[in-house]
Amino acid sequence: MKILRTLALGASMIAICCTAASAAGLTVGFSQIGSESGWRAAETSVTKQEAEKRGITLKFADAQQKQENQIKAIRGFIAQGVNAILVAPVVATGWEQVLGEAKDAKIPVILLDRGIDASKDLYLTSVASDQVKEGSVAGDWLVKTVGDKPCRVVELQGTVGSTPAINRKKGFEEAIAGHKNISIARSQTGDFTRSKGKEVMEGFLKAENGGKNICAMYAHNDDMAVGAIQAIKDAGLKPGKDILVVSIDAVPDIFQAMAAGEANATVELTPNMAGPAFDALDAYLKSGKQPEKFIITQSKLYTPADDPKGEYERRKGLGY
Ligand code: AHR
Repeated sequence: MKILRTLALGASMIAICCTAASAAGLTVGFSQIGSESGWRAAETSVTKQEAEKRGITLKFADAQQKQENQIKAIRGFIAQGVNAILVAPVVATGWEQVLGEAKDAKIPVILLDRGIDASKDLYLTSVASDQVKEGSVAGDWLVKTVGDKPCRVVELQGTVGSTPAINRKKGFEEAIAGHKNISIARSQTGDFTRSKGKEVMEGFLKAENGGKNICAMYAHNDDMAVGAIQAIKDAGLKPGKDILVVSIDAVPDIFQAMAAGEANATVELTPNMAGPAFDALDAYLKSGKQPEKFIITQSKLYTPADDPKGEYERRKGLGY
């Protein structure tokens, strides 16, 4: 019995040793889009933390919003012979050539938070939210909130050609379809940034009778919403009351706005895409088994009923 127990303990120690050792020692390249939003900055810092925790050497490249820089960075990672590559693709198209090169070099690629229009064979897995669902959660909230009242919506879209911009628009439109009292009066890109969100909202306000014709503002991310909130205040209106504000990400600043009564709803996007990505890579390298092609993160709705002050404090400590 004693011998059996000793053998079992030995076996489990070997398992613990090798589980921990499999990610440790890897070198992973990460081609990040840039730092356009609070959410993006959080994703970068969480990815660095997750790599450090697992003993992974992370080679980080900031593409400053340019696909050409991402392609250059990926080629650099291939030349350095990294063990795997993480990419947050700025736009959906134009990836076949460079990801084909990574495939030829037998380097697994994992997509983070945005998708691509290319063969699924070019990447190991994609860790992202269901972006159509994010748009529909925001749209459903608006439908429920306005009821039968007429509602002209202005929409701030994300980066042109990016999957979150395409899908969050689609999901929102699907949710309001069939509700004839709700319509999208104006829609323009704010490029996922706070400054562009403010600038575009100023134009919407001018074009819509100083904002008096606008019932709600839907932004594809919180940063654009925060910029738009400022524009609404500058125009002498009350965001959250005169104009309803609904957006996506759940970053600390939107909870601060919510606590002040200036934002009404946000849909959470976790910045921890790297944790599930490294887990999938680990399992793949150990067993050779293909992970699920899509690892989908949650899309939870938050409103002022969800302790915005507490959420602000809690999220501040999470790398935002
Ligand atoms: O791809 C995810 C989106 O990119 C986030 O919602 C937005 O804040 C970021 O810039």
